[in-house]
Amino acid sequence: MITTVTLNVAIDKLYTVEDYKPYEVMRVKECTATPGGKGLNVTKVIQLLKEEVIATGFVGGHAGDWVLERLDERGISHQFVKVEAETRTCINIKDLLNGRHTEFLEPGFTLNAHEEARFIEKFKELLKTSEVVTLSGSIPKGIRATIYNELVDIAKKAGRKVIVDTSGNLLVEILKSKPTMIKPNRDELEAITKKKLQSLEEIAGVAKELQVAGIPIVAISLGKEGVLVVCEEGTYQGKPPVIEAVNTVGCGDSMIAGFAVGLVKGEAIEEIIKRAVAVSAANALTAATGSFEQADYERLLDQVTVKRWAD
Ligand SMILES: Nc1ncnc2c1ncn2[C@@H]1O[C@H](COP(=O)(O)OP(=O)(O)OP(=O)(O)O)[C@@H](O)[C@H]1O
Ligand SMILES: [Mg+2]
Repeated sequence: MITTVTLNVAIDKLYTVEDYKPYEVMRVKECTATPGGKGLNVTKVIQLLKEEVIATGFVGGHAGDWVLERLDERGISHQFVKVEAETRTCINIKDLLNGRHTEFLEPGFTLNAHEEARFIEKFKELLKTSEVVTLSGSIPKGIRATIYNELVDIAKKAGRKVIVDTSGNLLVEILKSKPTMIKPNRDELEAITKKKLQSLEEIAGVAKELQVAGIPIVAISLGKEGVLVVCEEGTYQGKPPVIEAVNTVGCGDSMIAGFAVGLVKGEAIEEIIKRAVAVSAANALTAATGSFEQADYERLLDQVTVKRWAD
């Protein structure tokens, strides 16, 4: 079983408009709403990979109930802590004329220490039956900035594997707790090192330092270039074929799902990387975020290359 943690759930609304202009009344041509938050994308992809998954985090108000109903419809198991405040909505406006997007991200609710403590109890309970845990995205206001460190400590003490995918200060801080795996993209890695990383060798060098310092799997995702993975077995580069990407949002989350499934199955690292690259590239081929077509995934599995670098 894999537990996915989404502390900052959102309802993602996509408005399609003909010609977006600020300060004017806009008629929305099409409007869709989906449960969002990076951890929920991870959850959806794990479910599509046919591995058992349970989603947790915080949801609140009617909007929170709406999210849970959508998860129920998809047959996704969940155990969220319910709070009174409303789950946030994030609005993405797609301009049909030029294909460009404008995003409005609500700040979301502010939680308190009591709600945080309820979540930690739930997390401990879920760990009893979960071999792998994923922690994704940002955290709500009012929650201690060290919550991910605490969750990683609890998971490690319980002998569970824990993957953390976050950015900014949360990523810098989590390095101290040595999760089983991190997956920064190039920008997130450069934010840690505070310098531009030009070559793959330079990126691998930084990843190696993090791995030697005690993070067993350091994966650096490189968009269409694939992923560089430094782990005990060596340094590996996984590459997708060149594809006609439709929507790359959620590719990182799909990659996390691929790694989580590989780790729970106890596969060899080459196999895990192959799955993670194939499923994340397959996600880029669909318009929906955190989704893929089985046929794309299977075809890509045959086309992905995984090479071990010479020592
Ligand atoms: N254009 C693309 N073509 C093929 N594969 C892609 C493409 N973009 C992304 N991928 C796959 O998805 C993986 C993760 O992508 P990326 O490095 O963009 O993650 P990210 O920036 O964390 O994404 P996000 O946080 O938006 O989900 C890549 O390592 C690659 O395997
Ligand atoms: Mg990402």
